[in-house]
Amino acid sequence: MIAPLANSAAKSHKSASFVPRHVAIIMDGNGRWASARHLPRIAGHKKGADAVKTTVRAAAEMGIEVLTLYAFSSENWRRPASEVADLMGLLRLCLRQEMHNIKERGICLKVIGDYTRLDQDLVSLLNQAIEITANNTRLTLVFALNYGAQDELVHVTKRIAEQARKGDLDPEDIDVGTIESLLYTHDLPPLDLVIRTSGEKRLSNFLLWQAAYAELLFIDTLWPDFGSEALKAAVEEYARRERRYGGL
Ligand code: IPE
Ligand code: IPE
Ligand code: MG
Repeated sequence: MIAPLANSAAKSHKSASFVPRHVAIIMDGNGRWASARHLPRIAGHKKGADAVKTTVRAAAEMGIEVLTLYAFSSENWRRPASEVADLMGLLRLCLRQEMHNIKERGICLKVIGDYTRLDQDLVSLLNQAIEITANNTRLTLVFALNYGAQDELVHVTKRIAEQARKGDLDPEDIDVGTIESLLYTHDLPPLDLVIRTSGEKRLSNFLLWQAAYAELLFIDTLWPDFGSEALKAAVEEYARRERRYGGL
């Protein structure tokens, strides 16, 4: 028996002014942006980092509550070591340069994924940024780093199995809420909209559980070309969608 949804976010809507609370973006196409200009891939990643800054500012101005950005997947370790090092170097540089700016602008930084596997200095920088921005409320900016939805669900399953083995949890009592309370996203509002840039039409192991009833938007723009106009267009498209959650 599936209970009717009581959550107000579950109500269908058609209002053009409706702003999604939680938007997630698969920021794809940096490499192709660079190749099209006969530049090294890192040039695309650098331009991609500029697009992150513009998009974060635009999201805050539009009143989006949570912006989750897929920055490095658990599968991206398969890339050549030099590209992984370039991506980590860029993350390090951006964190050093932007951490205080993020704090001053009222943004709260969070990370999903097993980021403790990154270089220790990066883990420390991330922990510092998370700590100094923890009380900010204007926009929650979530970076998915070494994130994979399948890993996340394995992690949740292990926690549930441990609790059951210890006798703290009766398997009969496991429900959707049990799983949601153990996801990396447990303290975030439900995912409303997933945007993927660059024309690829797949989720690439991103927020598989959370995307159950999210609206999906695949656009051809390459990530370095994304910005406030593209975000505005995405939110307008979202506002035209009718969410039904299996009901009528
Ligand atoms: C997205 O751009 C950045 C990361 C995955 C870190 P890509 O590097 O995947 O760019 P394409 O897909 O090769 O164009
Ligand atoms: C998804 O992009 C991961 C990030 C944007 C961080 P990829 O470029 O890694 O995805 P695939 O390999 O094309 O599926
Ligand atoms: Mg890609």
